[in-house]
Amino acid sequence: MKETTRRNVEAAFIGEAKAYFRLHAFAKKADEEGYPQIARLFRAVAEAEAVHARNHFSLLERVGTTEENLKSAFESEEFANGVAYPEFLKQAWQDDEKGAIWWFTAARNADERHARLYKHALENMIAERSVLYYVCTHCGWIEEARPPEVCPNCQKPRDYFREVS
Ligand SMILES: [Fe+2]
Ligand SMILES: [Fe+2]
Repeated sequence: MKETTRRNVEAAFIGEAKAYFRLHAFAKKADEEGYPQIARLFRAVAEAEAVHARNHFSLLERVGTTEENLKSAFESEEFANGVAYPEFLKQAWQDDEKGAIWWFTAARNADERHARLYKHALENMIAERSVLYYVCTHCGWIEEARPPEVCPNCQKPRDYFREVS
């Protein structure tokens, strides 16, 4: 793809992905304010924006074999928790941006955990293993097999964990 169009596809992907989260936040607000039909509309458009984001994404990145994908997912998490978030955190401390400090820390810790889960999966690709995962919907921490009493990363209680099968 030509670099100019590639940049536009990247921008379109980011715009659609952001719209997905924005519209879900709008839907939550509409529900709170007693407009369930408007909330449904926001959620429907959010799903449509996710379709667009997925289509743009398919032009940007190639999906490899599962082994290749595990390696690249592992490397992304290593970069995020070892390089990107530490730099972002340093700047957030300098700027005294408490919200950013909090969420960067939570994401860095969770990403370290994600990297370990990927590494473990890579080492056990052929092993017969079936386990469910539980994701903390507050901070993105992941536990295997059963949800913890409290999230070890953000201390939210068990009911924040969502099962992923
Ligand atoms: Fe992650
Ligand atoms: Fe958490």
